[in-house]
Amino acid sequence: MSVVPGAGNGKVTVPDILGRKSLLEANPNSPANKITCLTAYDYPTARLLDEAGVDILLVGDSLGMVVLGYDSTLPVTLEEMLHHTRAVRRGAHRALVVADMPYGSYHADLAESLRNAVRFVKEGGAEAVKVEGGERRIELIARMVEAEIPVMGHVGLTPQSIHALGGYRVQGKTPDTAEQLLRDARAVEAAGAFAVVLEAIPRELAAQITHELRIPTIGIGAGPECDGQVLVLHDMLGLTFTQRPKFARRYADLGGEIARAAREYCADVQSGRFPSDEESYHSPGASRGAVLSRKPS
Ligand code: KIV
Repeated sequence: MSVVPGAGNGKVTVPDILGRKSLLEANPNSPANKITCLTAYDYPTARLLDEAGVDILLVGDSLGMVVLGYDSTLPVTLEEMLHHTRAVRRGAHRALVVADMPYGSYHADLAESLRNAVRFVKEGGAEAVKVEGGERRIELIARMVEAEIPVMGHVGLTPQSIHALGGYRVQGKTPDTAEQLLRDARAVEAAGAFAVVLEAIPRELAAQITHELRIPTIGIGAGPECDGQVLVLHDMLGLTFTQRPKFARRYADLGGEIARAAREYCADVQSGRFPSDEESYHSPGASRGAVLSRKPS
């Protein structure tokens, strides 16, 4: 199925996401135009989220922690991100697919960073890439935009800077750091990004940034005033093993459901209830139940 945008085919595009900002500004009391974004890492979840009407599927490098079992996002490789972006692409037809550039893939020289971003579009089928960082990414973002690659920025708590930040903490709580965050968000916009993720910052600061910027803000732990919201899918579905941040509302307990189903399956196999005769194939002409069975001793 084609994912190429066409008049009236319902495909969410970068201009649609930008346009939501004006719709939200024109109707400040109606949240119906808020942008919805969830992370996705594979074909079945991409398909389900796409069909549920989620606007943006972010192939986040949170993949490393929630799917691959690393203890931070730092080890995630370009090849791993491409592999999962391709799977999400195959499952998404309406939603905009945004791929996170992993740590190391845009931190050396500009030409290499650009080549890596192009791979997400050409090989992964992404319609945009996301990079972490504010003022220090101005040139990079501008070069990507120049190369026809829409860019989503990401400021505030940027997990790829975990060592520099000294931990996963709320950012922008002092006047100086709040001012720096404002500068970062403005820089991302000035460089040409079409949206910016605000992660783990005070609600009041996120509201100020949202009010100032002409591009949409997508919040995660940044309060309700942002133009859209994003959550890590595995947090909201109850599929994580570590303590959940307070903003990560749990919408389902799939972890509990999977464990229950696995226990029931083991019990059925070990009590002889699975598989049944109906769940078995039969030799042509054989009468039902006429099989050599191993008698319990
Ligand atoms: O990697 C990720 O999932 C993200 C979101 C938390 C925005 O960057």
